Amino acid sequence: MVTPSPSVFDPRAFEGTAEYYAAGRPAYSAELADTMARELSLDGTGQLLDVGCGPGVLVVPLARLFGQVTALDPEPGMLDAGQRRCQQAGVANVRWVQGVAEDIAALSCGSCRVVTFGQSFHRVRRLAVAEAVYDLLMPGGSLVLISHHIDGRPRPADPGYPQIPHAAVRKLILDYLGEGTRHYLATWDEGQPARFEDTLSQTRFGGSRTIYAPGRPDLICDIDTVVAGYFSLSYAAPRWFGTRRADFESDLRHLLREHSPSGLFWDWPGDTELVIATKSKRSRD
Ligand SMILES: C[S@@+](CC[C@H](N)C(=O)[O-])C[C@H]1O[C@@H](n2cnc3c(N)ncnc32)[C@H](O)[C@@H]1O
Repeated sequence: MVTPSPSVFDPRAFEGTAEYYAAGRPAYSAELADTMARELSLDGTGQLLDVGCGPGVLVVPLARLFGQVTALDPEPGMLDAGQRRCQQAGVANVRWVQGVAEDIAALSCGSCRVVTFGQSFHRVRRLAVAEAVYDLLMPGGSLVLISHHIDGRPRPADPGYPQIPHAAVRKLILDYLGEGTRHYLATWDEGQPARFEDTLSQTRFGGSRTIYAPGRPDLICDIDTVVAGYFSLSYAAPRWFGTRRADFESDLRHLLREHSPSGLFWDWPGDTELVIATKSKRSRD
């Protein structure tokens, strides 16, 4: 079996997860695009750079707000999945680029109206990358860090299905993968400020504001979707299980069936958080 030694800063951390990611991760708020359009006065022009785009999760709903989108990710499988997703959705104004956030200064993509990171900012050298984003943005342009956020958010009414037993599944993953995974989970921030807001206040942006778009209250998913969601996690990617992958999947399915005989779960990912840092309109940088 492969000994897991994943790192937050490994640009190949999501190798082999793209299809699971597309199938298993809960969607952001249905109001995300309208919220961004309103908050940032977007009008279908200018360029969006989506960093760590994965399988086009943000690109598809946001592309209509811009004239041109550049979607960046180091993982070729993610770029392929994103392209397919856009084709299916009829989204055609996207350029797909393989690369890392740390190299965006060399992308020659021109200036951007907005740069988004969807659950990907924690994977980069935040201070340096935020400064590089500042240079890429046009005056008045914004960096937007998007993620699901549960803590402190009003919980919607329970639609009548059990929740995904995350704690029990995490224990199963640790039983299979052991110390490497434990170390990875314990060293998530590797000395960087845990709050994105604290990082941004140390940059030329000088600060940020945080708003929320209402999350999806009624996501019901089956066991296949829950399994895909777990295999889409960098620390539980199929390759880490090696020859025990089928055993793990079988144990996971059994555990899930024990928690929900119907095989259905309520997935409440929380509201969609947007941490927005805007470059001054008067900036000459
Ligand atoms: C959790 S996924 C997020 C995907 C998508 N943006 C979303 O909102 O669901 C993180 C993505 O960041 C990418 N990534 C990892 N390291 C990166 C880096 N240094 N620069 C840019 N992207 C990176 C991964 O390949 C992966 O596709």
